[in-house]
Amino acid sequence: MIMSTTDSQQQHMVLDGDDVGFTSGETVLQVAEREGKKIPTLCNDPRLEPFGGCRLCVVEVEGIANPVASCTTKAEPGMVVHTKTEPIEAYRKLLLELLVSENREVDVDALRGYASQEFASLVDRYGARTGRFVGSKSGSSRLDDDNPFILRDYDLCISCYRCVRVCAEQEGDYAISVMNRGFGTQITTEFNGLLNDSACTFCGQCVQTCPTGALADKKALKAAELPGAIHKTRTTCAYCGVGCSVDILTKGETMVGIHPAMDGPANLGALCVKGQFAFDFVQHEERLQTPLVRGEDGELHETDWDTALDRAAAGFKRAVDTYGRHSVYAVASGRAPSEAAYIMQKFVRAGWGINNIDNCSRA
Ligand code: SF4
Ligand code: SF4
Ligand code: FES
Repeated sequence: MIMSTTDSQQQHMVLDGDDVGFTSGETVLQVAEREGKKIPTLCNDPRLEPFGGCRLCVVEVEGIANPVASCTTKAEPGMVVHTKTEPIEAYRKLLLELLVSENREVDVDALRGYASQEFASLVDRYGARTGRFVGSKSGSSRLDDDNPFILRDYDLCISCYRCVRVCAEQEGDYAISVMNRGFGTQITTEFNGLLNDSACTFCGQCVQTCPTGALADKKALKAAELPGAIHKTRTTCAYCGVGCSVDILTKGETMVGIHPAMDGPANLGALCVKGQFAFDFVQHEERLQTPLVRGEDGELHETDWDTALDRAAAGFKRAVDTYGRHSVYAVASGRAPSEAAYIMQKFVRAGWGINNIDNCSRA
């Protein structure tokens, strides 16, 4: 969208008594967060279109009778906003108490997903475990869904629809949707089936945006009983050339899961099924630790690097001597670092004098 000079001009409003600037098009929540206000949110994910479903982010705007959702309300010049009045805080606490009353549990293992602690931390911040409300529970878990990656534990669902929206807006997949209303509201796939039978690509984005852990990473949860704290290490996914940023989750020496980096410049929280879930190879008992060469018996045998490299060089030489240099073709692994890719093309171009070099990075 091309903005006119007037559109992009900095405008002013009053936020909790302070004059603050904003750019046309920004929401009150965006302005408030930039100013350091801690407005609680549950249905908001900054990567998604504002939704206005949970009402936790309400604020008072002078001249407007009822509180408004700050995530869907655009900032206006001269607007006077109060983000933390007594009635507003009481209203937020009431909403959280109601949500607590209809969920099976609040405290979930952080291995369930990136955002899984959001609900519990807000409940604690507002002291909302009061037990004032008791009654029906909403959502029915689909524990019969035997897909290997995603636990669908909807007893913990608060109907924020972040999963549905991230699937549609970020992944473009529309694999999940909402059926029924009120306490009967249920996140579902087409024909209420299993994820394996839906359009799901198992990108895991719904898991990572779920603020209650209702959607959970089954593979990571297997490590829930392992002792020790979860340690995160920022790195780049090794699968292809896109360069998605990830946080590797470890407990002690064991790799237990992966969180997408929400601030990763190449992926902004998105991953594919391989980057999200296919990390078993790292610690797999059958992972190759030494080079193998095929013996006279036709079987592969462990050997040292010098022997393996000599064997490979002899094979290349035989092919070139027999069929000419254009008979050789190299494909660099997308998992290799840039330095290794550079050496590989140098080996092909300068070593063999050909340009038969490609890579597998177009995953
Ligand atoms: S894993 Fe990805 S594709 Fe599947 S339902 Fe979740 S967001 Fe949609
Ligand atoms: S499953 Fe999670 S993300 Fe989806 S609506 Fe329920 S609480 Fe929200
Ligand atoms: S965060 Fe604004 S209504 Fe949910």
